Amino acid sequence: MTYLTVYSDSEQPETLLETEDAAEIAAVLKDIDVVLRHWQVVESLPQDAGQEEILAAYRAEIDRVIAEEGYTFVDVAKLHPDGGDDWPERAAAARRKFLAEHTHDDDEVRYFVSGSGIFYLHVDHKVHAVLCEAGDLLSVPKNTTHWFDMGTRPSFTAIRFFHDDDGWIGDFTGSPIAGRIPDFDTITATRAAATG
Ligand SMILES: [Fe+2]
Repeated sequence: MTYLTVYSDSEQPETLLETEDAAEIAAVLKDIDVVLRHWQVVESLPQDAGQEEILAAYRAEIDRVIAEEGYTFVDVAKLHPDGGDDWPERAAAARRKFLAEHTHDDDEVRYFVSGSGIFYLHVDHKVHAVLCEAGDLLSVPKNTTHWFDMGTRPSFTAIRFFHDDDGWIGDFTGSPIAGRIPDFDTITATRAAATG
């Protein structure tokens, strides 16, 4: 289930809103041109399913989004603890990659097959931290200032949509804002405490 926290982007950010209400989250995000949709999770997909199996399981939904938005390239990004000696290093490197504020010249569209991650959308002097979980499809329009935190123990499988396949480049803004806003580990701990 999606969880939204909205912060002011001031020097000492204030929490303006915390909600798990799907309708409220969709409405708040719609105001900043971000679309959040939900697909029925395919429970029969095995944990170790490969890219083709995952794409096949969601073929109808994927084709609908492609038809509506004109995406031409779809793939699957997976990151789960694998017990390797170098896992902590690889996890930290993956997390660092998009942890600072940036933009892209394509939409950032992600469907969470499993696991979770937080997109932080910095719009209208507010930071909208959208915790996405299995079943959530988030569409962030191109040029939206944002960052992404997968936490210190990353675990997710996500379907990604692109308008072209020539690489995913972040234009970093140089803003230190991401360091002032609670990170993935903090928000997920806050939520767990609030919901018991
Ligand atoms: Fe991004």
